Amino acid sequence: MAVEEVYLRPDDYELETLARNIGDLPFWSGLLKRERPTRVLEIGCGCGRLTLPLARLGAERGFSITGLEIEPAMLQRAREHARDESPATQRALRLTQGDARDLECAPRPRDGTAGAHPFDVILMPYGVAHHFISSDEQLSVWRGARRWLRAGGLLAVDVVAPDLERLARGLGARTPRRRDLEVSHSGRTLSRTIATRYCAASQVERLTFDYSIAEADGQRRDYRSAFAMRVYFPRELELLFHATGFSVERMLGSYAGEPYTAQAPLLLTLGRAI
Ligand SMILES: C[S@@+](CC[C@H](N)C(=O)[O-])C[C@H]1O[C@@H](n2cnc3c(N)ncnc32)[C@H](O)[C@@H]1O
Repeated sequence: MAVEEVYLRPDDYELETLARNIGDLPFWSGLLKRERPTRVLEIGCGCGRLTLPLARLGAERGFSITGLEIEPAMLQRAREHARDESPATQRALRLTQGDARDLECAPRPRDGTAGAHPFDVILMPYGVAHHFISSDEQLSVWRGARRWLRAGGLLAVDVVAPDLERLARGLGARTPRRRDLEVSHSGRTLSRTIATRYCAASQVERLTFDYSIAEADGQRRDYRSAFAMRVYFPRELELLFHATGFSVERMLGSYAGEPYTAQAPLLLTLGRAI
C-alpha cells in the first residue's frame, strides 16, 4: 500500500481536518457511553483527533482506548499530543504502530488480563476502511476485528456513501482539476486542488490532491498526494460483516443517527460480533 504523502506531514493533515469541521466526536462519545466498554480499539487513529478526547472520556468512565496506526509520523504526532493530557487520560490511552490487515494473525496479548478477545468495541472512523483496496484486504481486516472482539462486541465502520453522480464524473477519465479546500490557521495556509478518476470494475476511485502550503515564515511548499479509495456499496458492506461473523445492527447515514438512505453522505455501519 502506497503511503499518502499527506500522512507523512501531520501538520498539514491536522490543518486540513480542522477546516472540515467533521463533527463526529459526539457520535463516537455517545456510542461509547451506551456500550459501556472496558477496552476499545480504534483502527487508523492518525494523529489522535478522536483517540485523545475518547481517552479523556475513558478516564472518566473507566475504559481504555488503543489507537492502532500504520504511519509512524501520524502516530508520533498523536504521542506528542498525548503528553499534554492528564495522567488519568494517559493511563486510559495506548498508541501502537501496526497494520490493521495483520490483526487476523497478530498474536493476542499474553498478560492474562484481557482474555482471548480483548476488545469490547472496535472503531474504524472517518473513512479508514477506504484504504483497504482489495476484497482480500477487507476480509482480513474484518476477520481480524472479529478475532479481537468478544462475542457481543461492536464493530463500527464509517465510510463515505457512494455518490454515483460524483463517481460517474470520473468514470474512465480523470475529472478536470478543481480547488476544493483553502484553510488558514496560526499563519499557515493550505490550499488544495483535486482530480478524480473512478474504475467501476475495481470500485476504486483514485484521488489526486495537489497541496500548496504557505508557511508562517513566507516559505511555500507544493506537493502531490495520491489516494486510492475503495468505494463501498451498502449491501456489499452488509455482506462483509455477515461473512466475517457479525450481524448488522444498524446502518446510519449521518452522525446525527439518521438511518442510511440513498441521499445520505455517510454509510456508518454498526455490526455485532456473533
Ligand atoms: C483518514 S485518516 C483518519 C485518521 C483519524 N482516525 C482521524 O479521524 O483523523 C486514515 C488513517 O488510517 C491510517 N491507516 C491506513 N491504512 C492503515 C492500516 N492498514 N492499518 C492501520 N492504519 C492505517 C492512515 O495512516 C491514516 O492515519
